[in-house]
Amino acid sequence: MGKDVIIALDFDSRERTLSFLDRFAAEERKPFVKTGMELYYAEGPSIVREIRARGHKIFLDLKLHDIPNTVKKAMAVLSGLGVDMLNLHAAGTKAMMEAALEGLTRPDGTRPLLIAVTQLTSTSQERMESDLLIEKPLDQVVMHYARCAAEAGLAGVVCSPLEAGKVHEVCGAGFVTVTPGVRFAGGEVGDQVRVTTPARARELGSDYIVVGRPITQAEDPVAAYRRCVEEFVG
Ligand code: C5P
Repeated sequence: MGKDVIIALDFDSRERTLSFLDRFAAEERKPFVKTGMELYYAEGPSIVREIRARGHKIFLDLKLHDIPNTVKKAMAVLSGLGVDMLNLHAAGTKAMMEAALEGLTRPDGTRPLLIAVTQLTSTSQERMESDLLIEKPLDQVVMHYARCAAEAGLAGVVCSPLEAGKVHEVCGAGFVTVTPGVRFAGGEVGDQVRVTTPARARELGSDYIVVGRPITQAEDPVAAYRRCVEEFVG
């Protein structure tokens, strides 16, 4: 699995997104980028096509969760956008994940990487017990959801770099770990709680790191991106 840095394009408009990407226009290595709900709902599929046309790989972070047939059909539409990675909630069950894979698979048999969200990092043990009535330890729940995703045929999960090793142990070395919560040594942490540096994420076995503010808010985003790649990919 090729390691890579994914820049989280957490912008609310086409203009902001494209002016940020303009900085990378002269770069030989076009960054892999993540587009989330905010930008997608603001600008629609055309923004995805525009980013692709600039030569970027795209992780479309829409976290689907619905009945299997609906997710299958939605995935078929998204697959046609030519993105490289997509995600859904493992809580939708294995049947939903299998249907999603069917929808994603193109006539030639290829498909984007499909990644599962296990428990959101905003969900605490207490909330999981009181609101979701799940009374097992959170880390066990995360690993169980990861195993279900692997059994359904998904490519990997979103998790903390601190969980990447365990996920590989449980689901196999080839099961992809996509890990946010990355900060440079001595950098601003923001609202992230458990953070690791790109170099540490590499040691811990992450396959892809998702990095937002340390690059998007940097004085020199291209330099910050290059530093990330150097530390993480080598
Ligand atoms: O700016 P920052 O580096 O914290 O951005 C991290 C990105 O990864 C954001 O788009 C955030 O929504 C996403 N993410 C996360 N933690 C998760 C899942 C996704 O930070 N557990």
